Amino acid sequence: MASRRVIVLGSAAGGGFPQWNCGCAVCALAWAGDPRVKKRTQSSLAVEGENGAFMLVNASPDAREQIMATPALHPRGALRDSPISDVVLTNADVDHVIGLVHLRERQKLTVHAAQATLSALRANPVFGVLSPDCVDFREIELGKPFEVNGVRIVAFAAPGKVPLYLEGKDAAFVPPPIARDGSAVALAFSLGGKRVVHAPGVAEIDEALLSELEGCDVLLFDGTVFHDDEMARAGVGAKTGRRMGHVPMEGEGGSLQRLAGLKAQRIYVHVNNTNPALIEGSPERLRVEAAGWEVAEDGMEITP
Ligand code: MLT
Ligand code: MN
Ligand code: ZN
Repeated sequence: MASRRVIVLGSAAGGGFPQWNCGCAVCALAWAGDPRVKKRTQSSLAVEGENGAFMLVNASPDAREQIMATPALHPRGALRDSPISDVVLTNADVDHVIGLVHLRERQKLTVHAAQATLSALRANPVFGVLSPDCVDFREIELGKPFEVNGVRIVAFAAPGKVPLYLEGKDAAFVPPPIARDGSAVALAFSLGGKRVVHAPGVAEIDEALLSELEGCDVLLFDGTVFHDDEMARAGVGAKTGRRMGHVPMEGEGGSLQRLAGLKAQRIYVHVNNTNPALIEGSPERLRVEAAGWEVAEDGMEITP
């Protein structure tokens, strides 16, 4: 019998919270130890399957720290014996793949990713440290169910873009297209008869995505920015959330509006350090909570 536990290993977006070099208003609270904010590591889940085996969903640069903080992921005693058997990737962004490098050291592992993500990994020789006699890279076909440790998973394309490091040198003038080309996928897990959808990178909530989310029981959704122009408001950059491949929470077409009709338990993940909803009691946090959403924290467990 498969267990059905989902553990949020890391609830922050790329850079974590606080971000190492950031003095924005939200990070400043974290650096000062303000009790209204909790530190968070970068975007990753662990999903439990049969016999205490786990898959990581995305491998964050904080994977080592996340494993240390999570007793269920500690080695079981024998030499080279981790309960982590598989890694499933939603895209090839830095915050979702760098942790693969932590998972070297001759541990048998299967890495599942859609074609676009696999080719980004293959193009980068650093991932060659995962030696082919230990680590199997397996392509996920969109829309086609596969199983990991007895958990059924279906991946579907989410509106998104190529990773930042593949945008190309002209991206400042010609932004990469937002497409459903498999550069970003969402994952639907069947856990104990419930449907849990994880979508940490969604540039736009179109009708096709809405119909995929209809009827899910738990939704872990892109909570990168509260306002589309949040980076500019915070004075840390000009890019909008949408330009980075992340629909904002607030505003026309934002997730609060577009997903208001869902009955699912709704949890924001991949929250950027500039997002004022990280601050407990802030007007933005109260707005999110009044709309029925939770903001994920590291270590949060969901048993659907
Ligand atoms: C993102 O989610 O937009 C990326 O993680 C950004 C990045 O690569 O830093
Ligand atoms: Mn990211
Ligand atoms: Zn910051």
